[in-house]
Amino acid sequence: MTMQNKLTVQALQWTGTALKVLDQRQLPEKIVYDEYNDADGVTEAIVNMRVRGAPAIGIAAAYGVALSVRKHYAQSNHWRQKVTADIAMLAASRPTAVNLFWALDQMKAVLAKQLDNPMAAVLACAEKIHADDIAANHKMGELGADILDGAKGVMTHCNAGALATGGYGTALGVIRSAYQRQRIDVYAGETRPWLQGARLTVWELAQDGIPATLIADSAAAWLMKSGAIDWIVVGADRIAANGDAANKIGTYSLAVLAKQHGVKLMVAAPTSTIDWNIDNGDKIEIEQRNKNELLPACYIKEDSLVSAWNPVFDVTPAELISAIVTERGVILNPFEQGVRSLKNAI
Ligand code: MRU
Repeated sequence: MTMQNKLTVQALQWTGTALKVLDQRQLPEKIVYDEYNDADGVTEAIVNMRVRGAPAIGIAAAYGVALSVRKHYAQSNHWRQKVTADIAMLAASRPTAVNLFWALDQMKAVLAKQLDNPMAAVLACAEKIHADDIAANHKMGELGADILDGAKGVMTHCNAGALATGGYGTALGVIRSAYQRQRIDVYAGETRPWLQGARLTVWELAQDGIPATLIADSAAAWLMKSGAIDWIVVGADRIAANGDAANKIGTYSLAVLAKQHGVKLMVAAPTSTIDWNIDNGDKIEIEQRNKNELLPACYIKEDSLVSAWNPVFDVTPAELISAIVTERGVILNPFEQGVRSLKNAI
């Protein structure tokens, strides 16, 4: 069985009546799936990062809407108002990844129609969003692997893998496809403070038999200086029309370091991650998470003199990106024209 056919780890599974979510907070020690039957549960799972990663958040929210319709349609004549309230609740779960709003817009468009069987219609839409995301990842994997042809080593940041998507992954999809063609050295930054790299990425790659070397985030410049990597490959949470890309905090630092060391930066993301409504990255809302995610326990008290600043994304300007890989095609040097040409591409 080739890796293309083999199922990667699944962050989300639809059971037919409920959404199973792999609790990523417990990885890699424990593999625990929680089952959700309503939009409240799915919202909680996104807010508390049981599920995370831009495409996975969008897919989970879509199933959350399906669960909302399932719950309210049978119970109330005012089911549409209740579903609308649930959609607003899901939309407030996290601010930066545009896939969330994109997926909810798809669900709203279905609900805006006159429907004989609303549950069947919204579920079909959620399942399509899920399946299309997996297909897009495989397409990006091949396109990105073409670009990496001949590369000796790559580094990735955060987790942009199967765990962050419907399956296969964006940046890790590219790395999976590239690794199938030629053995490349894969380095993963630990990605403080939530340790997506240390807890998720290296674990996910190991599940597929792909060796990976973990580095402290602060070792990245020295790794680049050593000549071990040709490319940094990352995902994105939101890409502006000019090609500026928001991704996990630390991506911008890597991009600046990459320029200094002649290393190239690839952003792999489905077109559902492009926010066509914003011209540049300045307009992207950057999520600030609770300072307690960063602070050592001894400083978590009312009279503490030690606080924390915890932005969890940053924006890399298009001029520092060598390639944006989407399922609709590749944009080389996005600084020149942005990603606008992808809007109507098929
Ligand atoms: O805070 P997270 O873990 O949801 O952040 C995830 C990232 O920044 C990923 O790199 C991005 O969503 C791309 S996932 C394919």
